Amino acid sequence: MKIKFELMNESHIDDMLKIEKKCFPDEPWTRKMFESELENMISAFLVGVDESGAAVCFGGMWLIADTAEITNIAVDPDHRRLGLGQKTLSLLCGICRERCMSRINLEVRDGNDAAIGLYEKFGFEPVGRRKKYYDNKFDAILMTKKL
Ligand SMILES: CC(C)(COP(=O)(O)OP(=O)(O)OC[C@H]1O[C@@H](n2cnc3c(N)ncnc32)[C@H](O)[C@@H]1OP(=O)(O)O)[C@@H](O)C(=O)NCCC(=O)NCCS
Repeated sequence: MKIKFELMNESHIDDMLKIEKKCFPDEPWTRKMFESELENMISAFLVGVDESGAAVCFGGMWLIADTAEITNIAVDPDHRRLGLGQKTLSLLCGICRERCMSRINLEVRDGNDAAIGLYEKFGFEPVGRRKKYYDNKFDAILMTKKL
């Protein structure tokens, strides 16, 4: 399966909403949230599409001064463990380097072993914790990577 990565545009959003609901059923991003990323000058969002043009993964971040903040990264459950999360993150890191960012920050739910494993593989390190950040239940782990 060949996946091509593109900058997010309006045509991706229907598929992204489906992936989002599967990945984050409790609090999925809405159409309005994705649309506002298209208008947002500090946002960079990449989408992986298959040969049929369907989106199968995506990742986004905000670039603020010299620091990037990963806002979302998701791979359709039918396409997991194929290296797509890694590819998405690698491309986001590439954009950060091109734009001379010095650091990338993110938040991840405590216990999300897949995502934490992915970030650790890229050298992100835990630097803090927000208690009961998700649903007033789960802690958020703050991670950072110096570029
Ligand atoms: C996290 C996520 C993006 C990983 O995507 P993926 O395409 O399946 O991951 P990859 O195949 O690129 O794996 C890359 C690395 O991530 C880690 N990883 C991925 N899935 C994992 C799992 N289920 N358990 C532990 N580590 C895992 C491993 O280190 C893996 O490297 P390896 O293959 O050499 O072991 C995917 O599981 C997902 O969309 N999860 C739901 C959304 C989410 O939680 N996003 C993160 C929000 S902070």
